[in-house]
Amino acid sequence: MAKLWDKGYRLDEAVERFTVGRDYLLDRALVVADATASIAHARMLGHVGLIPADETDQICTALTEIATAGSVGAVEIDRSDEDCHTAIEGRLIAALGDIGKKVHTGRSRNDQVTAATRLYTREALIAIVERGATLIGALLDRAAEEAETVMPGRTHLQIAMLSTFGLWLASWAEQLLDDMELVLTVARLNDRSPLGSAASYGTPLPLDREFVADQLGFPEVQNNVLAVQHSRGTLDGQIVGALAAIAATLGRMAQDLIIFSLPEVGYVTLPDELCSGSSIMPQKKNPDALELLRARAGVVDGWAQQCRSVVRGLPSGYNRDLQDTKEPLLRALSAVEEELEVATVLVTRLEPERDAMRDALNAEVFATDYAYRLVEEGVPFREAYRQAAADYREQELPKPQEALARRRGTGTPGNLNLNAPQERRAHLITTMERLSERHSRALHTIYPGGEITTVRPATGTAAGETPNN
Ligand code: ARG
Repeated sequence: MAKLWDKGYRLDEAVERFTVGRDYLLDRALVVADATASIAHARMLGHVGLIPADETDQICTALTEIATAGSVGAVEIDRSDEDCHTAIEGRLIAALGDIGKKVHTGRSRNDQVTAATRLYTREALIAIVERGATLIGALLDRAAEEAETVMPGRTHLQIAMLSTFGLWLASWAEQLLDDMELVLTVARLNDRSPLGSAASYGTPLPLDREFVADQLGFPEVQNNVLAVQHSRGTLDGQIVGALAAIAATLGRMAQDLIIFSLPEVGYVTLPDELCSGSSIMPQKKNPDALELLRARAGVVDGWAQQCRSVVRGLPSGYNRDLQDTKEPLLRALSAVEEELEVATVLVTRLEPERDAMRDALNAEVFATDYAYRLVEEGVPFREAYRQAAADYREQELPKPQEALARRRGTGTPGNLNLNAPQERRAHLITTMERLSERHSRALHTIYPGGEITTVRPATGTAAGETPNN
């Protein structure tokens, strides 16, 4: 379709290629979300009397058809369209003629793109929390199984004190619970309706912003119309920052597993089907998935940095720079969802080598226990420390299970207190389910015929293929 801003001249080809960039490809992921927000906007225009009711109905029906096509990747966006907003309006006008030309009343692509992105992001974050809760559940289940599996605990990567594989597993569950709280926080920031802010300054039309927010399941409108644009790249940076926290946790967990699964260490075996081979060395069984989890921590952090760098120093109001935070956001959303899925497979299927872990318990592991035994006999700690340093190697090693049983403090290897993270996980799931129900209710409001139940297209889009992966 002709450009929305067409004024009778042709954009220079090099400038067009540069300014559109990959946006027309990325926008395939946003087609359904954009059509969804457009239905809410069109209903609002009808509600306040800016377009007649029968025309509203025709627009909504045509947009539902576009959303349905978009959900299977069947809405093409040409580079000359610039973006999904233009492609969708073009289809609408092709279907309805002049009536289609009314949908853009009272909005700008600037509030349109953030509305679509926020709907898409809401759903993607729900999926991430869902997958996060699954991984946390797997870690806690395995932690319960391995609560008595003694192993050396390490600091500085050197042998430190008695630990258990259960403590190790549950520790990552608890870190992920923290990370997921960040995700819920950014999900809340994301959950404000930008529509009605138009280009950055609102419009003189009697738009009902609350009506639109309500239709789309946003609990509130984003109040200040100028702040809508200020939050665009900023919010993207915050969202990707929260995702980077998850990626960092998974990367660190993966790093430990790479060490644990070294043949020389042998605490953990990774089943063959989770490892790749070498094209030259026949004996090789490589933990590539773990290595890429480690690498993605840096990659996702780079995307967060990209968002923050793009907005740094921008003048107020919309600037085209903001287009450049879309790709890191979309990529981070799909990458971290995928990471959580893979991490769950690895955690569920890894095989702990309990004997190897127990056999690794040496005099170093128990040196501090020995010092504390002396303390319990009345020796002041600093003296006990010196004596233990001098002769811990000559002491008989305690029975590991007895040493473990002496650790009763909350959250210690002898008392994992898994109820605490289990409760946090239950709370996380309840919050996620509430958000998910609100999202589904909104989609049902927009599509009462049940045509669309997800704004994230399944195929042929950035989420599944080409631009995102
Ligand atoms: N693709 C653009 C973006 O992501 C859409 C908004 C264009 N607005 C404009 N004033 N050129 O920001």
